[in-house]
Amino acid sequence: MRIGILTGGGDCPGLNAVIRAVAKSLMRQCQAEVIGIRDGFAGLMAPEPLTQTLDWSQVSGILMQGGTILGTSNRANPLGRPALLERTLQNARQLGLEALVVIGGDGTMEIAHELAVQGLPVVGVPKTIDNDIAGCERSFGFDTAVATVTDALERIQTTGQSHSRVMVVETMGRYAGWIALEAGLAGAADVILLPEIDYDIEWVAQVCRERELHQRFTVVCVGEGAKPLGGQMTVERRIEGSPEPVRLGGVAHVLAAELQTRLQSEVRATVLGHVQRGGSPTPFDRVLATQFGNQAAQLVMAGQFNRMVTLQHGQMANIALRDVAHHHRNVPLDHPLLQAARQIGVCLGDRL
Ligand code: F6P
Repeated sequence: MRIGILTGGGDCPGLNAVIRAVAKSLMRQCQAEVIGIRDGFAGLMAPEPLTQTLDWSQVSGILMQGGTILGTSNRANPLGRPALLERTLQNARQLGLEALVVIGGDGTMEIAHELAVQGLPVVGVPKTIDNDIAGCERSFGFDTAVATVTDALERIQTTGQSHSRVMVVETMGRYAGWIALEAGLAGAADVILLPEIDYDIEWVAQVCRERELHQRFTVVCVGEGAKPLGGQMTVERRIEGSPEPVRLGGVAHVLAAELQTRLQSEVRATVLGHVQRGGSPTPFDRVLATQFGNQAAQLVMAGQFNRMVTLQHGQMANIALRDVAHHHRNVPLDHPLLQAARQIGVCLGDRL
């Protein structure tokens, strides 16, 4: 068997753990030849495909390594470009790939789905720090990002407390508030603002004013997709050609400026940015990534294609790529963590 593997979209901790598990499982169980495609779909769309044959030694010792040994791209997108799509399929045929394992987020799964529709046998593996892939209750990378943000919030709190400041900390997460919610709770944020709940600036200011009287400092954890009532999300840039061209970012500065006009305390903003995507995966993410990788290899060997491996009710499962493509998984408004946050007095930006 000759199996291709690529990592697409933004990187996240645990990608190498998946590559290792897919390759080792296929090599051990069916002596497969595993071909790494370099730089995500860019490597398969290129006039000469960018590949490297992976042997056992290349996928050993990478479990705990951040990033991806294969490289990735968040711009390479053959969708809506028939000539590029045809070249991608042609390259896969020429390489003699019997299947392609695609590790990526929702944009990557949309491309994987289209390739599957066009006849390429594909198995998807869900990756993203955002935890927003449809049909998957936990994507690897998320736990590591939450740990990083939690650590940052603890550090921000001690300096904020010393200076009696309001500290606004922005997390990634795109249109889903999972990182802000879980890290905000783990890092004892006083205010957590999510894309799913539009915030009332007057109410957030009121909460900070009350804390000015007693605790004298406030930590606000805001997801990059959060927006004020009646307002817009803060867009940092557009990346043309990317499956998801909009890049959010900067809401912490917008919020800090608005709060500053309403408060006596000094307000400071910190945008955590790509630090959340870097570094070594947590033990949880290493285990999840290993399970996903092994599960993907099992699907390949069983000839079950056009599916994505997933975690459902704490168990390995798999779902059709068509049920993943073009869907997002947001924080439901009745999620128990939202209720718990409210009940312990965390402000979620609304007046509930
Ligand atoms: O999807 C992962 C993610 O890190 C988002 O949280 C963030 O909005 C986006 O990617 C940033 O992408 P880029 O690295 O292309 O700026």
